[in-house]
Parts: sequence; structure tokens; C-alpha cells
Amino acid sequence: ANGAGKAGKTRDILEKMDESGKNCVVFYGSQTGTAEDYASRLAKEGSSRFGLKTMVADLEDYDYGNLDSFPDGKVAIFILATYGEGEPTDNAVDFYEFITSDGVAFSQGGEATDNPLSNLRFVAFGLGNNTYEHYNSMVRRVNTSLEKLGAKRIGEAGEGDDGAGTMEEDFLAWKEPMWAALAEDMNLEEREAVYEPVFSVTEKDDLTADSDEVYLGEPTRNHLTGTSKGPYGAHNPFIAPIVESRELFTVKDRNCLHMEIDLSGSNSYYQTGDHIAVWPTNPGSEVDRFLSVFGLTSKRDTVISVKALEPTAKVPFPTPTTYDAAVRYHTEICAPVSRQFVANLATFAPSEAAKAEMTKLGGDKDYFHDKVSTRYLNIAQLLEIVGGKEPWPAVPFSLLIEGVNKVQPRYYSISSSSLVQKNKVAITAVVESLRIPGAPHVLKGVTTNYLLALKQKQHKDPNPDPHGLTYAIAGPRNKYEGIHVPVHIRHSNFKLPSDPTKPIIMVGPGTGVAPFRGFIQERSAQAKAGEKVGKSILFTGCRKQSEDFLYQHEWKDYKEILGENFKLVTAFSREQPQKIYVQQRLKEDAKEVNELLEQKGCFYVCGDAANMAREVSIVLGQIIAEQRGLPEAKGEEIVRMMRSSNLYQEDVWS
Ligand code: 2AM
Repeated sequence: ANGAGKAGKTRDILEKMDESGKNCVVFYGSQTGTAEDYASRLAKEGSSRFGLKTMVADLEDYDYGNLDSFPDGKVAIFILATYGEGEPTDNAVDFYEFITSDGVAFSQGGEATDNPLSNLRFVAFGLGNNTYEHYNSMVRRVNTSLEKLGAKRIGEAGEGDDGAGTMEEDFLAWKEPMWAALAEDMNLEEREAVYEPVFSVTEKDDLTADSDEVYLGEPTRNHLTGTSKGPYGAHNPFIAPIVESRELFTVKDRNCLHMEIDLSGSNSYYQTGDHIAVWPTNPGSEVDRFLSVFGLTSKRDTVISVKALEPTAKVPFPTPTTYDAAVRYHTEICAPVSRQFVANLATFAPSEAAKAEMTKLGGDKDYFHDKVSTRYLNIAQLLEIVGGKEPWPAVPFSLLIEGVNKVQPRYYSISSSSLVQKNKVAITAVVESLRIPGAPHVLKGVTTNYLLALKQKQHKDPNPDPHGLTYAIAGPRNKYEGIHVPVHIRHSNFKLPSDPTKPIIMVGPGTGVAPFRGFIQERSAQAKAGEKVGKSILFTGCRKQSEDFLYQHEWKDYKEILGENFKLVTAFSREQPQKIYVQQRLKEDAKEVNELLEQKGCFYVCGDAANMAREVSIVLGQIIAEQRGLPEAKGEEIVRMMRSSNLYQEDVWS
């Protein structure tokens, strides 16, 4: 099955490694880009510290049928994120199914042989979140399957925990013993790490920022030439007009946006319960800080061409472009800086004192935690402090491209029904702003603040932001009329029952109510069209009815249409001395909740994963046990069974 893939590129990993002289492939299964980032870092480190000939590979770009002829002297590293309810990431689905097929996949039509992968040496690290039930199940299952197929694991399979907030430290702690084991197994000698750029950055004197072929934030060539066309997706976002935006909160100091995004003409369709990915633009103040720290302010509009110095590396943005555009649109400059990257930057410090401080931060986990992690400093904010306002012009731009992640889209649960508005997607997003004690900056959500700026622009509001977040809004070259945002649709399994007469129970406090607005909108439309719809109960909540109760006026309209078939139950947590949450309301309605479940009703939870969703799941088990006169463990088991038969669905985030 090793045919030529897209653009004539080989899907044969062994051929690819041979033709590019590699002996180490780092495969990644990544959803939001973190696993991909770790894979690149490992590949780089393997080559600079141990002289391995490394390459990074997207699992979706290759076939796996010949992993059974993986030669001696080569190694495969798997960096695998677990997604949703213990599933593989989108790009790893095929690999996962292949590798867990118990060797059937390697039998080539005949008998499955024992240990078909006995030649394969591998290393594995997983990215997971312990607040989810299936913690790191992807790496665990792949590890088990590979071993069952006879492959030889080198070092321990590592597990990083995003739930505990220790992903980066888990990764750093895992990789040292792994490298030691790998070095021993492959007879590698560690050498003094020298910086070997993966990319070349060339300043182009013959082009200016307004030349036609220069990218100023356009995601693809078609966008640049103004002939953007579908299919739209993660590698080709649709630049969608925002046709409506409004504030949902009545308090002044917090914001929650309702936005309607128009997909007309994109040939992209969504289903009620899907997600929409939104590609952000970095705030101007942080772009300025970043360029200034690296001494690039005066060159911000200089045109650069970036090339990969080795055949398996991918330049993370289209070029030629400018320093400004690369930073503003493509680089995750607001993310907290990693300890390893700080260590890598020490050599390029502007003074001995700064170098010493960077080395200390890079080497001392606790010191780094106190000085950097607890204050959520991004790279430029940290260097500003460490350098004492001295810029760091010695840092190669290629190192920044390699060391700072590329911008990833953020996913929002769609809050409209595709039955009601086929081409118009609604989102409901709280604008994040966090004042951290002891930190020099207010921590601001990149995408939600960008959306807020778009809304202000649409309404011609003055920008009241005291923190100087300014955005390049009209898009590159001011070429879009009106207000736009790059988006694509991601399909989810969070779906209404296909039979509209089935009862549903929805639990979504805060913006967790988003998909349920879509669900109720849909059922109202079905009822209006004369269809019979089942009972829908929505448990939602907020701090105070008068401040942050989302869509409170709409619920009345839906009630009018759906009558007895719609029940809204609210928990206003801060209207009385004792907190009241949706869980308590569920218990108060235990009898009805249980009855609807006995009628094969579907139970949905959306919102905070860490506390709310976990507590709701426990409470539901207790309700079932109590109402049916069963022991509590039996109630829990029923909830587990509901999950596996899709009668309990979650759309949660942390
Ligand atoms: P609180 O902020 O007053 O504690 C939306 O954020 C609503 O969810 C708020 O009313 C919030 O209450 C509430 N909330 C906070 N933690 C929760 C939890 N563990 N379970 C359910 N609701 C919670």
C-alpha cells in the first residue's frame, strides 16, 4: 500500500529515510500542535546532542505496512497525544487502527506471523490530561500493541499530564533517561550541543513589503493571489465575514461575545454540535515587544525568505514574508516560554549576567517555576526582564522559528443549529483576562481578545483596553472589506439523537451552554415545522442572573414554542451566601432525570472538564443508584455504560 501520496511525495517511510539519509524518525499524533512541537524538539536535540540523523513525520503522511522491515540501526520515536474520550488525534486514526489490529495488518493476506515487528526499536511519549477518564490511553495502547507485535521499546514510555499542568516538566524528566537508554542501545556518543539551524533566513533586498509575492499573513498561495478556494480546512482556512457581534454580559468588567460567522460560498458545512476553529492574530503590543527584544523593530518590514535546510523540515509559514507578518500571524509569541528554550537561548544573551541567569533558569526547575511559570511570562516578557531592557540581537531568527510554536487555531463549540442557519455559525466566548498576583502583565486570551477587538471595530467602539492590545484587523493589505476571521469547521461526535422524540438532558454552566443553545434552537425549529420532539431539560448556571446569564431572553421564546417539552433549570452561584451549582439542581430533579434516562434519553455535559464535568458525572451515578435502589458502584457502572453507548456525551475543555 505504499503508493505515492499527495504531490508525488512518497508514503513509504523507509524510502523517505533512506533517500534523506535518516536513522531516526519522530512520528507525531497531534491535535493542537503540542505533540508536533515536542516531536520537533526531540528531533533537533537528537541531532545536536547525539549526531542522530533525525526527521519529523506526521503520522497521516505515511503508510505503516512496512514497519516490519524497519532496519536495524534505525529508531522510531512516537509522540502521541490522546484526544477527547481516549481517541487518537485526527492525524493518527489510521495508524492507530493499523497498529492495534493484532498483527493482522502485517499478515499480508496470509497467516499473521509472530512478532512481525521484532526489528523495530521504538521510543514513546504521550500527551494526556488526567482530568479525563482515558488518561493517555493513546500512548498506552500503542505501546502495548507495538510490544505485542514484538517491537523493542527503548527507555520507559513517558506520559505528560496537561491536567496537572506539568506537561513540560514531565517531558523534560522523561527524555533524559530516554536519551541515555537510546545512546546506549545505538552506541551513540553525546557531544557538546551546538546550534545547527534547521532553517535559513535570508533578507531580500530586491523585494519590499508591498510586492505582490510577499505574504503578509495570508495563509496560502491562493489567499495571496486572491483566488482563495476550497476545500477549506486546517491547512486552508476560510476567511469568513463576521456578520454580527454583540455582548452577552450586562456587567462592565467582564465580556462574553456572541458572534455570527458567515460560511456562505465556502462550501464548508457544519452540523449542530460541531466546533469551529478560529485562527487568531497576535496583539500589536506583544508583536512590538517581541520585535523590539530581538532588535528587529527597524527591520520589521524587511522581506525575508525562509528555507528548510533539510528535506524533511517544513517551514511553518509561507514565504517570502516580513519579520512583522511572521511574528504577528504565525508565531505563538504570547504562550508561556518553556524551560528548555530558555536554556537554549543562554548562549545568545547580551551580557554575562543575563547568560548566567538564563542558564540558572534553564537548569533549575524550581527556580524557573517561581520566576517564570507562576507569572506566565512569554518569551519576550522574560527576556525583557532578564536582559534589563537590553535587546538580544544575537538570537538567530531561525532559532525563534524553531523554538516558538507556530500559531494554532482555537476551537469553539458552535452555539447555533445548522438546521436553522445552515451557513451561519454562532459562537459564544468569554473574553479571558487574568490578573496574576506578582506578575508584571495581565494574562489575556489571544483569540478571545482578538475577537473582542473585531467586535469593537465592527461597532466602531473606542478600544477601551488599558493594556494597549491593538490588532491589525482589516487583514493583510486591508484587502477584506468589513470584519473577517480565518476559520474552519471541525466535526465532533457531540450530537443530538437522530430521533428527535428522544428525551435529552443537557448540563452546561457558563459558556458550556453554547452547544445547547444550538440543540434547543434545532428542536424549536423542528417543533415549529410540526415535528414531534422529545423532552429537553437544560441545566445551566452563572454567577448572577442580572450579570452573566447567557441568552436569558431567548429561552423564553423557545419555551413558548416547545411548551412542556422544554424545561430550563438555573443555578445562580453567587446570589446567596452558599454557592449553588448545576449539580445541586440535578439532584433536586433526580426523579425526572432518572425517568428520562430510563426512556433512553441522552445526557450531555459541556464546559469545564477539571471540576464541573467530573462532579456531574459522579452526581449522575448517585442519582441513578438512589432512584433505582442500587448500590453506588452500580450507578457508576451504568454511567460508564452510557458513555460507551453514546448516551452520555461530553464536550469539555480545561
Ligand atoms: P462560581 O464562579 O461562582 O464558583 C459558570 O462559570 C458558572 O459555573 C459559575 O456560576 C460558576 O460559579 C460555576 N461553577 C464553578 N465551579 C463549578 C463546579 N465545580 N461545578 C459546577 N459549576 C461550577
